[in-house]
Amino acid sequence: MSDALRLTGVSKSYGPTVALSDTSLCIAEGSVQALLGENGAGKSTLVKILSGLVKPDRGSITLFGRSVELAGRAASSAAGIETAFQEVPLVPDLSVTDNLLMPDLPLRLGMFVNRRAAAERVRALQADLEIADIDPRALISELNLSQRQKVEIARAIARRPRLLILDEPTAALSRADVDWLARRIATLRAEGTTIILVTHRMSEVHDLCSAMSILRNGTHVGSFRVGEISDEEVFRHIMGRSVEVSFPPRPAPKADPSATPLLEAVSISAGRKMRGLSMTLNGGEIVGVASLQGMGQLDLFNALFAAERLRAGKILVDGKEAHLGAPADAIAAGIALVPEDRKIQGLALNRSGTENATLPIVSDFAAFGMLRPERERRAVDRAFASVSLHPRALYQTPAEFSGGNQQKIVLAKWLMTQCRCLLVFDPTRGVDIGTKHEIYALLRGFAEAGGGILFHSTEISELIGLCDRILTIYEGRIVGNVSHADATEDGIGALMMGASSRYDEAVIA
Ligand SMILES: Nc1ncnc2c1ncn2[C@@H]1O[C@H](COP(=O)(O)OP(=O)(O)OP(=O)(O)O)[C@@H](O)[C@H]1O
Ligand SMILES: [Mg+2]
Repeated sequence: MSDALRLTGVSKSYGPTVALSDTSLCIAEGSVQALLGENGAGKSTLVKILSGLVKPDRGSITLFGRSVELAGRAASSAAGIETAFQEVPLVPDLSVTDNLLMPDLPLRLGMFVNRRAAAERVRALQADLEIADIDPRALISELNLSQRQKVEIARAIARRPRLLILDEPTAALSRADVDWLARRIATLRAEGTTIILVTHRMSEVHDLCSAMSILRNGTHVGSFRVGEISDEEVFRHIMGRSVEVSFPPRPAPKADPSATPLLEAVSISAGRKMRGLSMTLNGGEIVGVASLQGMGQLDLFNALFAAERLRAGKILVDGKEAHLGAPADAIAAGIALVPEDRKIQGLALNRSGTENATLPIVSDFAAFGMLRPERERRAVDRAFASVSLHPRALYQTPAEFSGGNQQKIVLAKWLMTQCRCLLVFDPTRGVDIGTKHEIYALLRGFAEAGGGILFHSTEISELIGLCDRILTIYEGRIVGNVSHADATEDGIGALMMGASSRYDEAVIA
C-alpha cells in the first residue's frame, strides 16, 4: 500500500511553546488512522498544518506521492484534504445550508446565491449523508452542540476529500450521532478514503480505526496497527509512563436516610423539555445523569443553577426552599455548574487563565477593593496543579489552549470556589485519558469531603464506573434511579431509550 501522507521533520512553535517538534510520520492510503496524545500533545496543531491554517516553521509534507505546500485552506482543499475541526468554526448567523456548502455556494450571475440550486444540493446531501434530521433552514446558532458538530462533519465529507481529517469529532456528538459517524466512516473506508481521526477514546480506536499514531510532547512516538499492542501499552506511549486506568474506589455508603439532602428538586418544570421532575442529591454522593441528547438534562442542570427559570415546582437547599433568581444566587447558595459549552458559558476567551479561574470568586481576593495578585496567583497555582494544568496556562488566554485544557480551567475555576453542590455537564469531553482519571479522583475527593455532585456524561461506562447511583431521564422525566450495585450498561441503555424501569419503581424520587 502506498502512503497517503508523509510528514518529515515538521516543527511548529507558538512563541516559547513548542507545539510540534521535528515530527515525522507516514499514513497508509486507505487507512483510518487514529491520532492519539495527551491534551496539548500537538494533535490539533498537526491538523491545522494539514488544513493550511497554520504554517509549519520547518519540515516537508508529501501527499499521495507529491510534495505539497499547504498555504491556506483553499490550497489544502485543492490538494484533497478536508477537515472537521475540534472547535467548530461554523458561522452561527448563517443557515445550515450556507454552512454546508461553504465556500462553494452555487451562484447566479456570478454574485447572488442561487437559492434553488443550493436547496437542491443540500437535499441530495441530506439523503446521501443521512442528515435529514437537521433542518437546512435553521441557523447554526439554533442548533445544539451535537447538531453543530454533525453539520461540521457533513460539510467536510460532502466535499469528497481523498484525506478526511476529523479532530475529536465525537467529543460533542450524542450517542445516536456517534453511530451515524461510524456508518459514515465505514462507507468512506469502503470507498478508499484515507481518514485521520483524533480521539481520546480507546473504544473508538477499536471500533473505527485500522491503525494509530501517537504524539507525545509534540513528537511522534510510534505508529501501530490496531490490536498490535495492548491498551495499557497505548496509554504508556501516550503518557510516557504507566497510568492507573481504574475508577477511584467508592467509600462504603453511609446509611443515614434521615439526613437532609443538600439539594432537592420537587416537580420542577423548566426550559423546553423538562416537566415535573423530582430528584435529590445528598452530601457525599456522586449522582449520575444518563440520557440521550435533548431529553431535558440540560434544562435540569440549568434550572438547578438558576440559569433557566422555573415554570413550576421548587428547589430546596439544605431542606429549605431556595428562591434562586439568577446564577449569582445559586453560587451564593453553594451551587456551581460546569456547563456543556465552555466556549459560550464557561470561559472568557480574551482573559488569561488566572483571570478566568478567579472570575466567580474575585471578591475573595480583593482586599479593600484592590486585587491582591500574589494571593490570587497562589490559589490559582494550586487549583491548576490539581487538574494538572501547565503553569503557563496562568498567562495564556483560552484561545491559545488546547481543547482539553480549556475544560480543565473551567473545572479548576469551580473547585476553587467553596461550593458544596457541583453540577458537572460532561466534564471529560475532550479530556485525555490520564487527566480523565485525575478528574474522577478530584470529583470523588470532593464528594468524600461532603460535597454532592450531579454528573452528566454521554459515556455510560463512565457513569457506571464513577457514580454511586444513576438517574435516567427520558422525555423530561426521571424514569430510573439505579444504584451502582444494580447498574449495567444494557440496563441503563434501555432506560435511556424509554423502556419501562426494570428497577424498583419505589426508589424513583
Ligand atoms: N494559537 C496558539 N497560541 C499559543 N499556543 C498555542 C496555540 N495553539 C496551540 N498552542 C499550544 O500548542 C500546544 C499544542 O496544542 P494542540 O492544540 O495542538 O494540542 P492537542 O493535542 O490538540 O490537545 P487537545 O487534546 O487538548 O485538543 C499546547 O501547548 C497549546 O497550548
Ligand atoms: Mg486538539
